Amino acid sequence: MKILSRVAAGMAVGWALIAGAGVSGAQEAKAGEVERGAYLVIVGGCNDCHTPFKMGAKGPEPDMTKMLSGHPQGMMLPEPPAPKGPWIWSGAATNTAFAGPWGISYSPNLTPDPETGIALPTAERFIQAMRSGRHLGSGREILPPMPWPNLAQMTDQDLAAIHAYLRSIPPIRNAVPDSVPAPPPAK
Ligand code: HEC
Repeated sequence: MKILSRVAAGMAVGWALIAGAGVSGAQEAKAGEVERGAYLVIVGGCNDCHTPFKMGAKGPEPDMTKMLSGHPQGMMLPEPPAPKGPWIWSGAATNTAFAGPWGISYSPNLTPDPETGIALPTAERFIQAMRSGRHLGSGREILPPMPWPNLAQMTDQDLAAIHAYLRSIPPIRNAVPDSVPAPPPAK
């Protein structure tokens, strides 16, 4: 009897350990995915255009206190300069607004702010947008210089990791103006 109850107690401990391992295994997998996404966002240069630049000791650098929050809402821009000679496009000092033959594009807010963040709540929609080059996965064409054709080459797993990371970062409230695609050329 004594032995049996010891065995039972041992089994209970064993099951508890297995159940514990199950929970932390799932958490570990999620943490691993977010970590992979953070790595891909850094090496993918997303901060170069989605985090506004400030002037640093060695020149302009992303202001990480505004990480991935897109074009600053208070920054009003004058009309872009007319393209001249081989200089066919312009970028704002923040590197978050761009004017060229495609119109004017503003880098959206990639943080999970419910009101001002880009509306790509699921990994599926994000993957669809990056593969199709369509706004929110099914709208107008995504404008340059967003390098979506490069992201389209990533595996679903890596794109899902980027998405998981973007959903995990601090939300920043910053309403970015809508991009303005150029009118189609006159026939
Ligand atoms: C060279 C500048 C640049 C880089 C680098 C860049 N982006 Fe963008 N991104 C933009 C601009 C500009 C837009 C807005 C395009 C538009 O409005 O059509 C945009 C749009 C987006 C969108 C919204 C797509 C949609 O549905 O409208 C997502 C999501 C996005 N970028 C994610 C990323 C990620 C993730 C990275 C890094 C792997 C990245 N971007 C790197 C400039 C850039």
